[in-house]
Amino acid sequence: MAQRTALITGATSGIGLGAARHLTDAGWTVWVTGRSLAKAEAAADQAGGRPLQLDVTDAASIAAAAGTVAELDALVNNAGVQPDFGIGLLEAGAEVFRESYETNVFGVAQVTNAFLPALRRSPAPRILNVSSGTSSFTWSTGPNPQFDHERAASSGGRFAVYRSSKTALNMLTLLYAQALDGDGIKVNALAPGARKTNLNPAMDRGADADEASSAIRTLLELPADSPTGVLFSYDGTIAPW
Ligand SMILES: NC(=O)c1ccc[n+]([C@@H]2O[C@H](COP(=O)([O-])OP(=O)(O)OC[C@H]3O[C@@H](n4cnc5c(N)ncnc54)[C@H](OP(=O)(O)O)[C@@H]3O)[C@@H](O)[C@H]2O)c1
Repeated sequence: MAQRTALITGATSGIGLGAARHLTDAGWTVWVTGRSLAKAEAAADQAGGRPLQLDVTDAASIAAAAGTVAELDALVNNAGVQPDFGIGLLEAGAEVFRESYETNVFGVAQVTNAFLPALRRSPAPRILNVSSGTSSFTWSTGPNPQFDHERAASSGGRFAVYRSSKTALNMLTLLYAQALDGDGIKVNALAPGARKTNLNPAMDRGADADEASSAIRTLLELPADSPTGVLFSYDGTIAPW
């Protein structure tokens, strides 16, 4: 198979950095991007990829990065923030919503639009948006919700801002998949599972980020008849919206 090229946003740590490693190990050329060029360079060194500055909230940075990358087989919208640590829904101000949505939602749309010309030059283009299982309506409701409804309610909506931003990202994933289906561009989302990373330092269940990173490679390498417009779990099953 011809060498394929991927670009990962927020690849300076955690799941994104691990995904860069898995992809380069598998022979992909990987643009290892970060909002800090120095961090992107250090991460690219570790992963054997190409460093590129890309702040997903900065239009000039997005345009410059898109101008550098001529052809792309896979765009991984992985950059994410969770600024509502310790801030419940009932006291969240507009600032915390803006910060979350700027990166997790608006950033994904702006980066996706900017890289579409490069993706259209690929014979089998893919977009993978790193979402969260906590965004799922199904997993957040019903008699046995996967995510702790009681705790969420008692703390006034724990991580509600973040979770709602990822729910918005899920809808964007579906709408992009529908809009790009005729062009042969697959667009999916990933629920990577709870992982101990900079974004989730309190995670103490020992879940290794590498399992999620490896899932990114697996999903990008699914065969041509694989689905578009779905939320994948890290184990490759399709998760409910
Ligand atoms: N860890 C979990 O339990 C978990 C669960 C569900 C979903 N996720 C999702 O997984 C993705 C990766 O997160 P992670 O857990 O691996 O955490 P992480 O190590 O903190 O990685 C997040 C990455 O996003 C980057 N980033 C933040 N704002 C950015 C911006 N404006 N432009 C470009 N890059 C930016 C960070 O860069 P800096 O180093 O510059 O901050 C960092 O490289 C996120 O979308 C997150 O929501 C994680």
